[in-house]
Amino acid sequence: MADTLAPIDRAKFSAARCAAEMVEDGMKLGLGTGSTAAWLVRCLAERVREEGLKLTCVPTSARTAALARDLGLRVVALEEAGWLDLTIDGADEFDADLTLIKGGGGALLQEKIVATASDRMLVITDATKEVRALGAFALPVEVIPFGWQASRMLIEELLGALDVMGTKASLRMNGERPFVTDEGNHILDLALGRIGNPRQLSLALNQVPGVVENGLFIDVCDGVIIGHADGRVLIRDALAGTEKEERILFEDTDNIFRDI
Ligand code: 5RP
Repeated sequence: MADTLAPIDRAKFSAARCAAEMVEDGMKLGLGTGSTAAWLVRCLAERVREEGLKLTCVPTSARTAALARDLGLRVVALEEAGWLDLTIDGADEFDADLTLIKGGGGALLQEKIVATASDRMLVITDATKEVRALGAFALPVEVIPFGWQASRMLIEELLGALDVMGTKASLRMNGERPFVTDEGNHILDLALGRIGNPRQLSLALNQVPGVVENGLFIDVCDGVIIGHADGRVLIRDALAGTEKEERILFEDTDNIFRDI
């Protein structure tokens, strides 16, 4: 069954499967959002079924919550869980410092809150997300609907004075209407091209009235698992300063594909 997946999905699956194997019985886990995180949820559900693992899961979006519940994971709100052992999530870009751009799926606010309420955060990804400099992927910024046009003008003005290549902020659409996040907000996607100073940019964006949060994750991610279509996974641990390679065997994974 894994043979029928596109190479990119095999790569995402490999990273997710590897991360799911690191999860320990009794953990309180943050579950990310997006296609890679969805593979993680399926892999965790399989471990719960097969091994009787007891997990408490805090999802970062309504989408992830629905999938996790459907597959039999125990889902609670962050308010109930309190503090988490580990959050595992995808990313849109990551650099050598493991600074991330997130929010391509529109869930950056819950993702940042959940990740920073965890002892550790791991990113699961395919190799295309690794970049020398962040910014080719448009940076998502969550803004409240009230006066979003004014927030956009202030952001574009601000960007003109910062170390970025582009300054255009576009309102994310969902068909004919503005995209609405789980919190009822909108997303502005900033076409920056290159971000010279992510820390300065993040601080400046969050000062703009109407901005709720931006998609730069700085000093949040502790490690990254990079999956490849042939099952190879590279595990980079920022704290230990190590990198090792493992291999996922697709033959052992048929139960997971039966769920899809
Ligand atoms: C959602 C996110 C996702 O983690 C990011 O967009 C990556 O998605 P995918 O795993 O589908 O490539 O930040 O808000």
